Amino acid sequence: MQSRYSMNKKDKKPYIKWILIIGAVLIAASITVWLYLHDWDMERSLNALTGGDSQQPAVESEAEEQIVDVQEEDVVIPEEKEEEVEEELPVTPEPNEEAVEEEVKDATVYPESIELPDEPTVIDGILLANKQNPLPSDYAPGVNPDAQDAFGAMRAEALKSNIDLTAFSTFRDFARQKELYEGYVAKDGQEKADRYSARPGFSEHQTGLAFDIGESGAEQHWAAASFGDTEAGKWVADNAHRFGFILRYPEGKEQLTGYMHESWHFRYVGKEAAKEIYDADITLEEYLEQQ
Ligand code: DAL
Ligand code: ZN
Repeated sequence: MQSRYSMNKKDKKPYIKWILIIGAVLIAASITVWLYLHDWDMERSLNALTGGDSQQPAVESEAEEQIVDVQEEDVVIPEEKEEEVEEELPVTPEPNEEAVEEEVKDATVYPESIELPDEPTVIDGILLANKQNPLPSDYAPGVNPDAQDAFGAMRAEALKSNIDLTAFSTFRDFARQKELYEGYVAKDGQEKADRYSARPGFSEHQTGLAFDIGESGAEQHWAAASFGDTEAGKWVADNAHRFGFILRYPEGKEQLTGYMHESWHFRYVGKEAAKEIYDADITLEEYLEQQ
């Protein structure tokens, strides 16, 4: 007869054996799954198990590892490199005060101190008179003979279309311009007068090259915006350049020319310049800036 003790020991043996077998199988299966999850990489599996390298993201493949390397290179610029890159970048100059003033240039504004020059401004053979380019007070050439001839030729041509042109104001000397300007200031105030009448020493009429053109017998349209809507006004606007004249103060160009639109004020510049200005639809100021 077996003792109570020996009987118990015998009963327990198969139970322990199965626990050990199942345990071993579970451990083996766990190791297999763990290795599988870490690409059969023993080192990585151990790191994952022990928490080693936990700051680095797990790299899934060699290709991704390379991508991470490239991205890191793109993002991390060593101080030295940053300096090199900065040196190679094109340097955008800070806008200086002169450049800013250039951008906001407004030809309707007279310079703060007005001092008349000893000589008129001539650019590429063309005389320029405006609020920024005055004339000597004693500059008094009279009507320019070339301009006079050109007007005669234009008048003859217009007559063929039964348009009888007349120049109701041409050369005006300094004293006459002073008289006119002061009269306009008294009537409309200086701010308004400055938009349509030149101060003495600044008028193109003082050069003898400006012609105020109208139609004989249609005085109601002389020096009036309505002239531009008449047959005669349209004819001159379309043909004056063929004779060397330009419409000096076109509509919408006040900031460039300094004066509001005048459908009657034409300026003789010669046939070549007149054609270029007419074809390009620009002002005399724009044309001369390009020279
Ligand atoms: N009306 C033009 C601007 C002048 O007075 O000369
Ligand atoms: Zn005029």
